[in-house]
Amino acid sequence: MKSVYIRGNASLYGEVTIQGSKNAALPIMAAALLVPGECVLRNCPRIADVDHMCRILRSIGCRVDRKGRQIRIDASVLKDSRLPEESVTRMRSSIMLMGPLLGRIGEVSLSHPGGCVIGDRPIDLHVKALSRMGAVCRDDGDRLSAVSAGLKGTLVRLAYPSVGATENVIMAAVLADGATWLENCAREPEIGWLCDFLIHCGASIERTGPGRLLIRGKKRLHPCAYSVPADRIVAGTYLCACLAAGGEIFLKGAPAGENDALEKIAEQMGAQVRKTRTGLWARRAGPLRSPGSVATGSFPAFPTDLQSPLLAAMAQAEGESRLQETVFNGRFGVVEELNRMGAGIAVRENTALIPGGRRLTGMRVRAAELRGGAALVIAGLCARGDTLVENRFYVDRGYEDICRDLRMLGACVQDG
Ligand code: EPZ
Repeated sequence: MKSVYIRGNASLYGEVTIQGSKNAALPIMAAALLVPGECVLRNCPRIADVDHMCRILRSIGCRVDRKGRQIRIDASVLKDSRLPEESVTRMRSSIMLMGPLLGRIGEVSLSHPGGCVIGDRPIDLHVKALSRMGAVCRDDGDRLSAVSAGLKGTLVRLAYPSVGATENVIMAAVLADGATWLENCAREPEIGWLCDFLIHCGASIERTGPGRLLIRGKKRLHPCAYSVPADRIVAGTYLCACLAAGGEIFLKGAPAGENDALEKIAEQMGAQVRKTRTGLWARRAGPLRSPGSVATGSFPAFPTDLQSPLLAAMAQAEGESRLQETVFNGRFGVVEELNRMGAGIAVRENTALIPGGRRLTGMRVRAAELRGGAALVIAGLCARGDTLVENRFYVDRGYEDICRDLRMLGACVQDG
């Protein structure tokens, strides 16, 4: 199994170009199912989850040609609506294929995505919303299936601003009969990028207020060429690395306005952060201070996907910090490994108490999920001695090449 080998106790100096966004690319690839023709997607990140999505699209009849970061998806002829179990259970976000398949061919069936190490991953909001639009959903515990004789536009108000459920409703509504008013929807930037892609394909989507969209169903969409935006979570991960290890970095292409919450926390912790026309500059030279209490939440709050990377930085900061996880109910899994390195973090219900001021000790640690794995790499950068992060495949699900990127920032890391 591949690992990441890190020589610790060194600050970061350098520039890295931020890869395309995993959480924008996946829904946009799913949305290509709505288009009877070939869409050309550029700047797609070369990561495992995109590989899985390509396999799923091919398995239901799409022609998918991939050259580096460009992916051509031709969904002119769809042959199947049963999603392959192997890929669905490996990638939770396969659930977002329900909307486009119901919208395009009126049926879909997939194995139940199930939970994962960051907490429960129910799909009740997806099922409720699609049912309101006329889909008949059946869940026998293992497999989930849905059919529709033609989705109808209607008012859909989400009980929680779920990113995936928002994406499913948008993709179901763009070809539905009539208009859909979507309320209390997610406001993450990836929602905007998905809408932008669909508008480029001829969809009618209007933002009518914070968390409110009006989608007028069309008869047909047309192909387009589209560039996937930069990944705000990858950029945020490297900003956390600079906070923890110190130094001065430039994140080329970092998406402006998509990490404001983290940038504010970084400044509270003693870093200087500056947006430029081409990316984000950051420097942490003085002492790293605790930011006090931080809570994750739906955008524009501090994102849950950067919770573990920030934990690793907080462990170094002077003074006690508190990090409350309000989105997932099991996302402190990485604490155990951070504590083996000496972080001294205590978890009470959904809040981590970080004493701070700890010098972590490098050692062999094990990643158990994507963002926790990235947090262990950050911990290794500032630990005394060397660290080996095992189960690197978890990190490769979302980061094209975390060793390449961190070497661009001057870190001493190797593929273990
Ligand atoms: C997306 O997951 C992202 N994944 C996640 O990123 C991200 O952490 C999450 O949004 C929150 O921002 C992709 O975009 C591929 P949700 P998603 O539906 O859509 C509850 C990463 O590391 N909920 O917004 O699955 C759910 O239990 C990944 O890149 C229901 O209760 O997230 C959770 O508590 C991890 N019922 C909360 O909503 C439902 O039907 C947020 O989930 C659906 C969700």
